[in-house]
Amino acid sequence: RIVYVNGDYLPEEDAKVSVFDRGFLFADGVYEVTSVLGGKLIDFDGHAKRLARSLGELDLAAPVTTDELLAIHRNLVERNDVTDGMVYLQVTRGAAPDRDFAFPDPDEVRSSLILFTQSKPGLADSPAAKTGIRVISIEDIRWGRRDIKTVQLLYPSMGKMMAKKAGKDDAWMVEDGMVTEGTSNNAYIVKDGVIVTRNLGTEILHGITRAAVLRFAREAQMRVEERPFTIEEAKDADEAFITSASAFVTPVVEIDGTPVGSGTPGPVAERLREIYLEESR
Ligand code: PDD
Repeated sequence: RIVYVNGDYLPEEDAKVSVFDRGFLFADGVYEVTSVLGGKLIDFDGHAKRLARSLGELDLAAPVTTDELLAIHRNLVERNDVTDGMVYLQVTRGAAPDRDFAFPDPDEVRSSLILFTQSKPGLADSPAAKTGIRVISIEDIRWGRRDIKTVQLLYPSMGKMMAKKAGKDDAWMVEDGMVTEGTSNNAYIVKDGVIVTRNLGTEILHGITRAAVLRFAREAQMRVEERPFTIEEAKDADEAFITSASAFVTPVVEIDGTPVGSGTPGPVAERLREIYLEESR
């Protein structure tokens, strides 16, 4: 695989980052995941905009322009022959000469940019889309700026492991009795035809797939409510689903052992998945 590191395209085994990189030492960095379907990048502009926002919120300098970023994405997809899969991008504050909590002077230490691809043949017809996934609920103990897409992913990883240990697929996180989001996706329920998902704020990541799916839902005259909901409300819903760049729209058929609705993927999730895939390809 060819990867991108700070201006160079290199075989993965030759790519290097410093042991002093602040991404590595302080999780001082942000990332984006953009899906590739049929060789085409899905929603690149949305991901580029969110990246700019994440960088701004952390006073991190953009290492390249958006046009350059697009060229790098395209280059990697082509060089690695990615038909279906994803491009991972990470910007960190770079390698300061000493381990110091204070940010280094941006004129002296340049931010670092790396990208790589991952091929996932048949990404759009994953088995989970047909069967739906089963989730557990866990307490959301992440930091309070989940709207910034930082590389601090330890708790979401632990959540995923808690789900796996319980024989399930993923975890929905709950704060003050209200569902925030999945470990790496946004969470939705459907009740009496109304799609409900948490409103935007610092409590959740502003999903790029979320924005697209809500737009398509409204265009299709479906009713949408952006507000917090409880796990009890979710268990009692007609349907539940998640969205993310890698899962697109994936039905949730069970929460904490309780089947949601019929316990099989629901029509709203299936329709939104179809619309999303058709419109974004
Ligand atoms: N995760 N919420 C969280 C906590 C996420 O990590 C993600 C994305 C989303 C969905 O955002 P989007 O629709 O822009 O992908 C919501 C990516 C896919 C990941 O970490 O792999």
